[in-house]
Amino acid sequence: MRSNPVGFALSVGMALIAVLFGFTLLSAGSLVGFAADDVASGPAAPDKPVSKDSIMSLTKADGAGPALSAEEAARVAAGDALFKANCAQCHAVNEQVVGPALAGITKRRSISWLIPWVKNSSKVVASGDEYAVAVYTKYNKQQMPSFALSDQEITSIFAYVNAQPAPAVALAR
Ligand code: HEC
Repeated sequence: MRSNPVGFALSVGMALIAVLFGFTLLSAGSLVGFAADDVASGPAAPDKPVSKDSIMSLTKADGAGPALSAEEAARVAAGDALFKANCAQCHAVNEQVVGPALAGITKRRSISWLIPWVKNSSKVVASGDEYAVAVYTKYNKQQMPSFALSDQEITSIFAYVNAQPAPAVALAR
């Protein structure tokens, strides 16, 4: 007598399991529409700090035209990794760390100045370049290390810097 409700619950449970199992099989076979949709929308999720707008402004700054290409997005991503590996211990985009904040650097300096600077800043300082001497002096003659990076890698780093959004509050500096 008492085993009846238990038996009923068991068979309901079994039925549920059977339904769920069948549904899983259907999903696996892509017969259920939303399963495929979920997979398709998945890769858009990763933590990309790069917004469409910021890439547009990067494009504008580079004078490369208004097109937003996958190539540019890839370059920014490469620059992100290179920045974190080589520069982030002394630089941030929007605030001074050991070295200056790098936001707007491509407006202050051309890429043809920046590439030799990153490769060997002391050589640029030694050449008597006015800007280089001034920034070197301002930062207590603390020499930035030289980097064995390619022109393209350095360009990627500044593409990444330009793609970073400005802070919400204007910097009082
Ligand atoms: C060990 C600390 C350190 C590291 C690492 C470093 N920098 Fe610097 N950077 C400095 C300092 C300090 C200055 C200020 C100039 C000077 O003292 O020579 C500077 C200056 C600069 C400037 C000039 C900024 C301006 O406003 O004129 C740029 C551009 C720059 N660094 C880019 C980079 C990039 C790109 C990397 C990574 C590839 C990097 N730095 C890695 C310390 C560093």
